[in-house]
Amino acid sequence: MASQNGPEWISWLQKKVAFFLLLSLMLSTIFLLSVWYSSHSFTFTAKETLRKTSLATDHLKQNLRPQKPYDGAASSDLPDGDLSFTIDESCDISIGKWVRESRGPVYSNLTCSFIPEMNNCQKYGKPPGYLYWRWKPDGCDLPWFEPKRFLHLVRGKKLAFVGDSIARNQFESLLCLLSQADTTIQIEGNSTSKYRTMHFQSSNFTLMVMWSEYYVQAVPNTNCDAIGCFDLYLDKVNLNWTSRLPGLDYLVISGGNWYFRKNYLYVNDTLIGCINCNEENLKDFGTVYAIRSALRKALESINSCQSCCGLKTFVRTYSSAHFENGAWFNGGDCNRTVPFNKSEINLYGYQSEVAKIQNEEVERIKGSNVVDNDNRKYFGVLDVTEAMMGRADGHPGGYYNKHRKTANDCLHWCLPGPVDMWNEMLMHNLIKTSSLG
Ligand SMILES: *[C@@H]1O[C@H](CO)[C@@H](O)[C@H](O)[C@H]1NC(C)=O
Ligand SMILES: *[C@@H]1O[C@H](CO)[C@@H](O)[C@H](O)[C@H]1NC(C)=O
Ligand SMILES: *[C@@H]1O[C@H](CO)[C@@H](O)[C@H](O)[C@H]1NC(C)=O
Ligand SMILES: *[C@@H]1O[C@H](CO)[C@@H](O)[C@H](O)[C@H]1NC(C)=O
Ligand SMILES: *[C@@H]1O[C@H](CO)[C@@H](O)[C@H](O)[C@H]1NC(C)=O
Ligand SMILES: *[C@@H]1O[C@H](CO)[C@@H](O)[C@H](O)[C@H]1NC(C)=O
Ligand SMILES: *[C@@H]1O[C@H](CO)[C@@H](O)[C@H](O)[C@H]1NC(C)=O
Repeated sequence: MASQNGPEWISWLQKKVAFFLLLSLMLSTIFLLSVWYSSHSFTFTAKETLRKTSLATDHLKQNLRPQKPYDGAASSDLPDGDLSFTIDESCDISIGKWVRESRGPVYSNLTCSFIPEMNNCQKYGKPPGYLYWRWKPDGCDLPWFEPKRFLHLVRGKKLAFVGDSIARNQFESLLCLLSQADTTIQIEGNSTSKYRTMHFQSSNFTLMVMWSEYYVQAVPNTNCDAIGCFDLYLDKVNLNWTSRLPGLDYLVISGGNWYFRKNYLYVNDTLIGCINCNEENLKDFGTVYAIRSALRKALESINSCQSCCGLKTFVRTYSSAHFENGAWFNGGDCNRTVPFNKSEINLYGYQSEVAKIQNEEVERIKGSNVVDNDNRKYFGVLDVTEAMMGRADGHPGGYYNKHRKTANDCLHWCLPGPVDMWNEMLMHNLIKTSSLG
């Protein structure tokens, strides 16, 4: 089809899909309501669910629970009322615990057409227990993600994610969440391209993802093994993404995982050393040094952007993998079915060290006085690290299409899945900063 990527074809498809979904939603709701009323075992509350210990019976019921119907795709009106809710600004949402939540995800693989095969864990049979947990910060609640509320906050705005495949993971999560309440069309790229832009039509919200594993200039080094390595120019930002900053309202920058491979470091076009190498006469600066240097360069570049008035930047902190009994290509797996609790994770490991550096660099740029009042920028964090350390149960593992790959994926996150929480944190921060203009 010649116009395969054209907006016309996509909106035609979306109309068909929307009609089909509406029909199946109606039919399944009728069916589920009849099941609901005929079964006493369905009249349990969230509180009761928390008391239940048998995951197996929970899942049986949760599988049959109707999806919360969203009518947003069918109507162009966003509600006027019920959009204000308060958040506790003083609450540190990065510290808390995962608690059982009987209300399932906002979307499923039937209501979101943007779930990549590699994240469609339900399609490949992953036991669904990981879907029924909720991040509960100590001392406050994170607002439940309401697509219409989010769209109301970002009406007419532009938001971009920059980073690696895990940044894309959050982008796809947000795409699924918001597509429940507004029609979206692709205006640049596609699911496999490095830059992809979507436009939400009723709310005039533009959502973009930009690929940059290192933020700084990275040139593949041909003298490396099959995994590949790069020459990193720590003092030169990758202009491919910074050139797109003007006009953006929000930026979510993240990264880290690519710094755990061997890379060579350059400053002033001079080789100064490496990370994760073992070479004579070459200083190994270590992963965290490179992460700090590149993030500092990235944040300084954002801060010095002259035509980025009012840009709000959030650093999404490190999201760790959960391989057990091996790694990517030697049989590592992640087959846990419940989250770890706080006493089961190492709060002093490398993950926390990376998160600490990311937080420090945000504090550093906030403390710098480069910004003037006419060009005010905001910097904040989405500190997901401690929360995600607990979610060994939320990765695809072996539950994805492994036609070409043989390894288990214990790095990316299932969609829907715990990564959706990052967008709850994002919404919390949008509310928190909405008065800053
Ligand atoms: C969605 O997930 C179900 C299992 O919950 C699976 O049977 C189905 O094939 C999946 N559909 C799509 C379109 O991914
Ligand atoms: C949509 O938003 C853009 C900014 O992102 C703005 O320039 C444009 O005027 C808006 N369009 C409408 C129809 O409101
Ligand atoms: C995405 O776009 C690129 C370049 O136009 C094309 O080569 C690729 O096949 C497209 N991928 C998909 C999944 O449509
Ligand atoms: C920027 O994008 C171009 C075109 O896709 C690519 O060739 C180049 O390597 C990119 N630059 C960096 C620093 O990644
Ligand atoms: C970078 O190189 C230039 C000359 O190419 C030199 O003048 C400058 O001092 C160097 N800067 C650093 C930090 O080494
Ligand atoms: C998880 O995998 C380990 C080996 O990697 C195995 O011993 C264990 O039985 C598995 N657990 C489940 C619940 O499948
Ligand atoms: C954490 O989990 C472990 C293992 O399941 C358990 O022994 C321990 O009591 C739990 N701790 C808390 C504080 O819940």
